[in-house]
Amino acid sequence: MQVVAKHPAERLAEKRSREVQMEHERQVVAEHYQHKPEIFMRVLDARLAYATAVYLEDGEDLDAAQERKFARLATKLDLRPGETLLDVGCGWGSNLLYLAQHTEGVAFHGITLSSEQAQIARKRAEDWGVADKVTIEVRHVETLDLPDESYDAVLFSGSIVHMHSRAEIHQMVGRILKPGGRLLISDCYYPAVNRGDRDSSATQYIFVTALGYCKLTTLSEELAFIEDSGLDIVHVEDLTESYVRTLGAWIDNVREHRSWIDEQSPGFSKLLQTYMTIARLSFHKRTALEYMILGVKGRPRTNYGTWPIP
Ligand SMILES: C[S@@+](CC[C@H](N)C(=O)[O-])C[C@H]1O[C@@H](n2cnc3c(N)ncnc32)[C@H](O)[C@@H]1O
Repeated sequence: MQVVAKHPAERLAEKRSREVQMEHERQVVAEHYQHKPEIFMRVLDARLAYATAVYLEDGEDLDAAQERKFARLATKLDLRPGETLLDVGCGWGSNLLYLAQHTEGVAFHGITLSSEQAQIARKRAEDWGVADKVTIEVRHVETLDLPDESYDAVLFSGSIVHMHSRAEIHQMVGRILKPGGRLLISDCYYPAVNRGDRDSSATQYIFVTALGYCKLTTLSEELAFIEDSGLDIVHVEDLTESYVRTLGAWIDNVREHRSWIDEQSPGFSKLLQTYMTIARLSFHKRTALEYMILGVKGRPRTNYGTWPIP
């Protein structure tokens, strides 16, 4: 098997102790998400999802495609009364609050590195009448101290890419999930065979300048971490084309609001447009890939083999 080239940011991270790397992520990753939420309100969909949507039809708008993504997450997570969900990297509450609004009797906990995001998510939970079932904290995932078998579902949407200590994080997820518990990840990966230049200044711009710290594994590496934690992989889908369209919609919004964004945060529109354009090209050329992965601990209660292809 071909060895996947590591990005310099990942090689640097490997030289740090786990604690120092965690502190590094806490600072440099949070920085992007601490920008004024009002900026992201002009760039993203109404629920502020900062991850790929799921497009099906030509001409569909971003909000419709993100609504499809939320509904798909809800189907895959299959939350039932009395259950609990942990959203690792909950952002401004996009998925967490949708799920809270569309389920009965489920308790939700979200964590993010950004106090700005946590504030908006809590306010939205109040405004949307779900504050009684949602808690949100500013916390790095590796500082969670949770009992064994304490959650029914764990979600990472657009967040695991920021986390260096993947094997350890997956071990923790495998431990805290109850039997029958689900792990759902929506994120980006490298193709297994080297395509493109991973040491390029364009990659450096996205991984470090714009987003602080990113580590892309291949799909098979992530699946191996999940399997090593004791879970079975039950479903994987490729959302790469949807991410090309999502990024296109975000770029159009940045362009439309460029001067307003720069009044709020000088230079930020250029940073957003540049990193999103490089990313869009990478997904278009399939030098980066977008997947949604579902793992289950123990016996699944759904027969995933019967799922229709939409
Ligand atoms: C691209 S946003 C995705 C937000 C949301 N999940 C969504 O789909 O809209 C990434 C999120 O991951 C969070 N995050 C990144 N690394 C984290 C870590 N180590 N622990 C907790 N949250 C983290 C960031 O604070 C941010 O909220």
